[in-house]
Amino acid sequence: MSTAPRRLIVAIDGPAGAGKSTLARALARALGYTYVDSGAMYRVVGLAARARGLAATDAEALAALIDGLDFALRPEPAGQRVFLSGRDVTEELRTPAVGEWASRVAALPAVRTRLVERQRRLGEAGGVVMDGRDIGTVVFPEADCKFFVTASAAERARRRAREIGAPEAELGAIQRDIEARDRRDSERALAPLRAAADAVTIDTTGSTAEEVLEQVLARVAERAKA
Ligand code: CDP
Repeated sequence: MSTAPRRLIVAIDGPAGAGKSTLARALARALGYTYVDSGAMYRVVGLAARARGLAATDAEALAALIDGLDFALRPEPAGQRVFLSGRDVTEELRTPAVGEWASRVAALPAVRTRLVERQRRLGEAGGVVMDGRDIGTVVFPEADCKFFVTASAAERARRRAREIGAPEAELGAIQRDIEARDRRDSERALAPLRAAADAVTIDTTGSTAEEVLEQVLARVAERAKA
């Protein structure tokens, strides 16, 4: 009988700036798993669509764009790096404008079916922590562990501002942006942002990244034994 530990699929979903990627990255490192940031795929499509002057609603053009898109997600010890036509676009992807584009193109079935297929290929062998909006509900409904990570809107705005190095004065605008994006993500017909029925919800407002990681690691250890 093999004694190798089971390599799980861990799904982490939640709204913008809730701390998903910080948690997912640290969790993957602690477990020796691969971290996949599914949002980066939607951001790459948004970035490429914007650069080519496509309309965010043109499903046919976006489908053709994705089918010809040369992009790669490369897991590295410090996190995931993203390459578009061989160029490292990791930092460029994090701008609010690209986030806005990502959320617009993410509402289209032609975009989602293509990206979900890639996400399933990356995770199906297990040993993966994937974060996004629909990982526990659509991409891997059979995931071994599901977490839904939230935080207050004000806290999420503060974290996002820190991440992109924005000044205090822009906090209000950043909060309005992420609230608008969350509304769009939650209200879309296809794969809306919501917690899976069997997800553990974690409110990270007022918790440190270490505290959240500890809580999640304990749950994952329980599941790995099951
Ligand atoms: O990092 P943040 O939470 O701000 O965003 P992200 O995870 O990079 O996702 C950017 C956008 O992509 C989201 O606002 C969603 O519209 C979309 N997305 C999605 O629809 N499904 C996913 N699994 C991941 C992202």
